[in-house]
Amino acid sequence: MELTKPILITGASGKTGQRVLAAVAKKGGVVRAFVRRPEASDLLKQIGAAEIAVGDLTDSDSLRRAMVGAGQVLHICPPMHPLEDAIAQTMIDLARAQSVERFVLYSVLHPILTDVPHHRRKLEAERYLVDSDLNYTILQPSRYMQHLVPIWKTVQSTGEHSMPFDVTACFSVVDLSDLAEATARIMTEPGHEGATYQLAGPQALSQNDMAGILTEVLGRPVRAVAKPLDDFRRDAVVAGFAAERIETMLLMNAHYDAHGLIGNCNVLRWILGREPTRFAEFVARELLAK
Ligand SMILES: NC(=O)c1ccc[n+]([C@@H]2O[C@H](COP(=O)([O-])OP(=O)(O)OC[C@H]3O[C@@H](n4cnc5c(N)ncnc54)[C@H](OP(=O)(O)O)[C@@H]3O)[C@@H](O)[C@H]2O)c1
Repeated sequence: MELTKPILITGASGKTGQRVLAAVAKKGGVVRAFVRRPEASDLLKQIGAAEIAVGDLTDSDSLRRAMVGAGQVLHICPPMHPLEDAIAQTMIDLARAQSVERFVLYSVLHPILTDVPHHRRKLEAERYLVDSDLNYTILQPSRYMQHLVPIWKTVQSTGEHSMPFDVTACFSVVDLSDLAEATARIMTEPGHEGATYQLAGPQALSQNDMAGILTEVLGRPVRAVAKPLDDFRRDAVVAGFAAERIETMLLMNAHYDAHGLIGNCNVLRWILGREPTRFAEFVARELLAK
């Protein structure tokens, strides 16, 4: 793998982007971070970005400039962006025009779930990439364990683990740090061309299961609660989410409520060369240790 040319990473200042950027830089990749807020640059340089490209994913001129001389593109779209498929198409066209050596698309587990709008848009992005004649890799990560982080204080203070779906629905939750490490390997080591990788965690856990694990690690009772959708909608409005994003989240949660989200961790284990992180290990490392 030719590592002297920059790897353009979009969504670099986000939760996924920051961890992936740091992991790619640690493995020797020259990271060019695409940011829409120049004030994010200092932090990204501190965690390993060699170059900053300022722009907006909906502005093709800024994307074109950002791709000049890039060896690879790792496209991490903002979550549930209403133009996700169109943005991906523009980026893939620009990457082809500039003879980028490989385009890596950060997608989602089961983009075939067409009742969930952002899965449908990622499926369209995947389809466009596969037909683009570009050298590509597609990553399909499952739901992150890190969804516990924003509710952690509430879990501790109320003893309730509350998410807006059935407490028995199961998810192959995956550790974002494992995903960052796996993505860094994929970006910097040979042999991943033309691959589509399902990246799921090692346990299929319901809210009940997670509450049971938290009860053990905290040494006091934690109870799972299916958060009522009206409460979820109210909190999302207060948090400032756009109306379209709230509707997309509600459709996603309705799907989760009925089916959960299950995948297999064999591919992640193979890429990492070790066992993927289990939920209790994630809690100990990321929440209890701080
Ligand atoms: N969370 C999960 O469980 C999960 C599972 C599988 C896949 N994923 C996928 O992971 C991806 C990243 O999610 P995340 O939670 O890490 O995202 P995030 O933390 O919300 O970060 C979004 C990033 O996109 C940037 N951004 C937003 N609008 C932009 C624009 N118009 N132009 C340029 N940059 C823009 C943001 O920049 P600012 O810093 O300026 O806001 C930020 O860097 C999503 O595609 C999501 O579907 C997530």
